[in-house]
Amino acid sequence: MRTLITGVSGFVGEYLAEYLLTKNVEVHGTVKDKNISSYNNIKTHKMDITNRQQVAEVITEVKPDCIFHLIAQSSAAYSWKHPQLTINVNTIGTINLLESIRETGLNPRLLLVGSSEEYGFVKPEDIPIKEEQELRPGNPYAVSKIAQNMMGKVYQRAYDMDIIMIRAFNHIGPKQSPTFVVSDFAKRIAEIEKGKREPVLMVGNLEAERDFTDVRDIVRAYYELFKKGEKGEIYNVGSGKSYRIQYILDILLSLSTVDIEIKTDPNRLRPSDVPILRCDNTKLVNLTAWKPRYTIEQTLRDVLNYWRETV
Ligand code: GDD
Repeated sequence: MRTLITGVSGFVGEYLAEYLLTKNVEVHGTVKDKNISSYNNIKTHKMDITNRQQVAEVITEVKPDCIFHLIAQSSAAYSWKHPQLTINVNTIGTINLLESIRETGLNPRLLLVGSSEEYGFVKPEDIPIKEEQELRPGNPYAVSKIAQNMMGKVYQRAYDMDIIMIRAFNHIGPKQSPTFVVSDFAKRIAEIEKGKREPVLMVGNLEAERDFTDVRDIVRAYYELFKKGEKGEIYNVGSGKSYRIQYILDILLSLSTVDIEIKTDPNRLRPSDVPILRCDNTKLVNLTAWKPRYTIEQTLRDVLNYWRETV
């Protein structure tokens, strides 16, 4: 069994590779930069997803049985500043991948990782969110992921390709980029604890409610879907529990060793921010019996400890 992870050096990519290696599969991964030697037991291939030629070359060379497509411009906040780049990487990049697979005549199992942001402005009565939910995107990132997954569905149907679409809810864990809220808060709290910052934490919208899952649970769900998912289907991946960002902040502050003042920074408020995303994971659970193993408290503690060792 030969698997290819696009974006293996990213946050989820590293965890997924580590997990797959415990399953005795051959793991290949694409990296954008030349940092080839740092991944033990993973065969890396240099590839820019926006470069059609390079994508075709990697698919032809690796001939994977399974592809986990993780490369993404993954920040909703950043997508407001760079909407073209977001569409280019997430949507056009996915088309490059689909076309490359089709041209080789191979039929690997392809998992396209989309986002809960595709659901966007969901009505309160439609929470928790099922896969059939109408899509009401609230930012360019969400649109790019809708287009990605719709292209996947179109190719699956038209060419009978073995494609599964995932809608992943927020995932968190040690080593995540501080672009995202939990890492962002935890990193700055660790810096304050070390006296590297004033004890003031600037924050954005604390009213939003999100379904957070530990990345170590997320990659187990992806693996289960790779084994048991049905082609052409869409699967939500998320814990089924949601928390207001204020609650996440309160836990992190309670774990901190110092007193910290909280202030709102208007620059951290987005042009629009979906109020609530909570996953209905029934379809995933019925198929695979997956359930998260990490509690939110454990994950937040791990993230804060990671930053304490890093900053
Ligand atoms: N980053 C950040 N920084 N977010 C903040 C802050 C802050 O200081 N203060 C409040 N927030 C709020 C955001 O407004 C948003 O409502 C929530 O925290 C989560 O923001 P992010 O962690 O940046 O992630 P996201 O929800 O926009 O996107 C993440 O989840 C998606 C799935 O729902 C990413 O992981 C996406 O790739 C993923 O698809």
